[in-house]
Amino acid sequence: MKTLFTPISAGKLRLQHRVVMAPTTRMRTEVGGVPGELMVEYYRQRASEGGLLIAEATAISPFANAYADAPGIFSDEQQAGWQRLVEAVHAKGSQIVLQLWHPGRQSLPELSAGRPPVAPSALVARDTYGVGKDAQGNYEGRLFPEPRELDENAIVAIIDEFQRAAQRALAAGFDGVELHAANGYLPEQFLLDGSNKRNDKWGGSLANRARFLLDVVAVLTDVWGSGRVSVRISPSGIYGDMHDSDPATTFRYLVEKLNDFSLAYLHIIEPRIVGPEDRENGSYAEPVASRELRPFFSGMIIAAGGFKPEAAEAMLVNGDADLIAFGRLFTANPDLPERIRQGHPFTAWDRDTFFGGDARGYTDFPAWVS
Ligand SMILES: Cc1cc2nc3c(=O)[nH]c(=O)nc-3n(C[C@H](O)[C@H](O)[C@H](O)COP(=O)(O)O)c2cc1C
Repeated sequence: MKTLFTPISAGKLRLQHRVVMAPTTRMRTEVGGVPGELMVEYYRQRASEGGLLIAEATAISPFANAYADAPGIFSDEQQAGWQRLVEAVHAKGSQIVLQLWHPGRQSLPELSAGRPPVAPSALVARDTYGVGKDAQGNYEGRLFPEPRELDENAIVAIIDEFQRAAQRALAAGFDGVELHAANGYLPEQFLLDGSNKRNDKWGGSLANRARFLLDVVAVLTDVWGSGRVSVRISPSGIYGDMHDSDPATTFRYLVEKLNDFSLAYLHIIEPRIVGPEDRENGSYAEPVASRELRPFFSGMIIAAGGFKPEAAEAMLVNGDADLIAFGRLFTANPDLPERIRQGHPFTAWDRDTFFGGDARGYTDFPAWVS
């Protein structure tokens, strides 16, 4: 595991090892999408000297959310909650970036100030569920209603919301921001031709479909400068009813354009993953992963999706990526970097407590040596 524990710089992030915590929605905020003491403890447990945590998908706007008790970064209370969390992580010598999220057509009105979801085109994400709450406060899976097609003014307003969220993340003390452009959320809805049927400047040609994502990266970079903004993509992703007629060309184009921004890193989900799960059958026509995109990107690459330590090390040794993000393993192994370094066994994750709940299945997984 030598390469996993070789220091590296990703933009302005200076890291002592390459075992990154992937963003993982756990639906455990306090009222109003505010990170509270429970979340502070969760992230504190997973912080390590010289490590990098990517905080979970965080709503940039009160008008777009898909999961009850997911956090936001649009109110003063939320910002203050994140600030406490960042301070706890920094106190352990770790860095942390915030994943900025607009779910677009994957939004539930009940979590979005009553507004219907919005999207580049009025196409529903079929067979895709958000998580609301019933009258007793129990979590309940809900299909997303048909979205409203965004007009030009509304698109510009959302880009402004990304900018304000980036400013709040900076004020909260984060080390950077990651644009969530994966898993079928708004930036990817613009990018792929399966979900974008527009014929104005935000749709049609590949350049037009990429415009929204690149304009958002531009405003994030205006706020943060170079080396602290990053983008997460799922080039073979089908989660959220996503598809594209030519993903290899689409993502190669995007990645080449991202070279203009001096990103901290590009974060790529491997084809073997669908959202939070392993893909069950390899039906996707043209899988695109870090290996294919590497030649077109000039910066650091984080690969994610289904990695165990041996495969992670091999990926780095082959040069297909520079860092590896772990999602599910980190949920049950708070000391994951140290466990990998020492070769200790892993605790199995508990899918039943992934989404929502209390400390059980969240902060009660002990470190190997506690
Ligand atoms: C409980 C859970 C929540 C997740 N939430 C997010 C999220 O907020 N943002 C995101 O980009 N990916 C999310 N993912 C996907 C993970 O970041 C990761 O890509 C996926 O789990 C595959 O990696 P793994 O095999 O190491 O778990 C989530 C996955 C799980 C299991």
